[in-house]
This record gives sequence, structure tokens and C-alpha cells, in this order.
Amino acid sequence: MPLSSRHLLGLNGVPREDIELILDTAITFREVLDRPIKKVPTLQGKTIVNLFYENSTRTRISFELAQKRLSADTVNFSTSTSSTKKGETFKDTVRNIEAMKLDMIVVRHESAGVPLYLTKISNANIINAGDGLHEHPTQALLDMYSIKERLGKIEGLKVCIVGDVAHSRVALSNIFGLKTMGAQVSVCGPATMMPLGIEKLGVKVYHDINKAIAENDVLNILRIQLERNAGSTIPSTREYHNYYGVTAERISNYNKEIVILHPGPINRGVEITSEVADGPYQVILDQVTNGVAIRMAVLYLLGTMH
Ligand code: CP
Repeated sequence: MPLSSRHLLGLNGVPREDIELILDTAITFREVLDRPIKKVPTLQGKTIVNLFYENSTRTRISFELAQKRLSADTVNFSTSTSSTKKGETFKDTVRNIEAMKLDMIVVRHESAGVPLYLTKISNANIINAGDGLHEHPTQALLDMYSIKERLGKIEGLKVCIVGDVAHSRVALSNIFGLKTMGAQVSVCGPATMMPLGIEKLGVKVYHDINKAIAENDVLNILRIQLERNAGSTIPSTREYHNYYGVTAERISNYNKEIVILHPGPINRGVEITSEVADGPYQVILDQVTNGVAIRMAVLYLLGTMH
């Protein structure tokens, strides 16, 4: 069965069958990444543009690598070296790029809703690589893949998203995706970092990190997004660390093997200590490797739809 949509704009409302299809397809591509020749001809002849209006390391590189591994032709756009600097509008930029005959657009933008807008002005398949504070669907998919890889399932697991939930598109996509897949999802952090009415999404709310560690199988620890003014919601990063930082000492109080995820980039010593970020329970670099396989799966499934 193909995916139910020709775009991936978010995980809100995406059926379980679609998520399962992407996760299952990614298993095959993850195996390709371990081969001496890490390339398949699947998207030969397809042209994909990576339209990044915001900084990125992991997402941009892994999308580009995924496209190259699938033998697609790829073009990278970044605002700092484009005619956006000369005042060209977003719509004109997209229409000009589209005139060069492309098949898919991967977009990251500081404004929520830009991927949806692109579906109205372009005929290409659109993939959201993070839009404002809205969604980051491929991050949540690679998070789910990494959880399943470590624990063998998602259904029934207790997963807590820790930290700056209010500024996090990763949190929202994880909540939608994990709940669809049957996990019990919670969030943990200071009240000032929780969106108003977060409980209405069907998540439990913790304000005590020790309780969150005690009661959950997985912690997905978010970065404190200082560039999005998160600093104004806490007295200081030191205070945040004292109350909510995930430390080896806190984990060792409970005799359990909790799985630690972090989407990156990490603020070491703020939301997580180096001991935990580099320790035995984390899957942080596995997430990055799995991100290439997930993006290959999404590109393949969308790029071969009729
Ligand atoms: N996780 C994530 O989106 O990282 P980048 O901002 O580096 O792409």
C-alpha cells in the first residue's frame, strides 16, 4: 500500500499504517547504509531541492546524504548565499526553482505553515524538515525508529519528553506520532516551558524530573532553545539544570535501564550531562544514523508514488 498523502507536512493525523510503512521501509535502507557501496538506484532521474531558511546540521546533511544514497540529483539552497538577500520573495524564489523542473522540495523554515503553503504554489512533493514551533516529522520518525530498535516495540511504552516543550517542534511531532503508535506519552519541565492546554493532547504532565525518570521507559530530552528566547522562561540555565537536568546520579537512583534520546544539538551541562549524553543508556548517535535511513524511506515512498 502507498502512503495516504503525497506530502509529509507533519504527523498530526497521519494514520498508523503510514508510520508503520515508513518505519518498516527504513529497516531495508538502514541495512543499505552498512554495505560497502551505500547506494541504490531507486530515485535515479528525480531532482530534489533542499530549501533551508534556518540553520541545520543533522537534518540538512542527512537529507542530502539520503538523496545521494538513492541516486537522486540534489540541489541545496541556503538563504545566506541566495537572492533572498537581494529582496526576492519566498514565492518568487520557489517558482523560479520550480521552473528548473524539480520533483521534490525538502523545506526548513522559521515560520510554521510554510510547508503547507508550498503545497499550494508548487506541484512537487513537499517534505517538512522543521517549520517554526509547529512540526519536525522526520525527527519524530527517526526517534520512533531508534526506540523500536532498542526496545523492540513502541506500543505500550512510557515515553517522556523533557524540557522546553513550548519551543519544540520535535515535541509536537513526537506526541502525535508516539500516541498514534500506542505509546503512553508524557512531558516534563517547568510550567513556563509547557504550552497552555498541553494536557488536551492526551499527555501526562510532570514537574518533577525524578518522578519522570522513575515512571518512564524512555526520556526524549529537548534542547533549551536559547535562540528562541527560552532563557526568558527560566531564571538561568544553571537553575534549569539543578531542577530538570538529566544526570547519571538522578538515573542511578532507580534500578532501571532507561533509554535516553536527544534530537541535538546538545547543550551539555544544561538539559543533560556529558556523562549521560555519552553513557550506556543513550542512543543519540544511533538516532543520527537512523535519520538517514528514515529520510531515505520517506523520499523513496513519496518519490515513487503515482
Ligand atoms: N535535530 C535537528 O533538527 O538538528 P539540526 O537542527 O542540526 O538539523
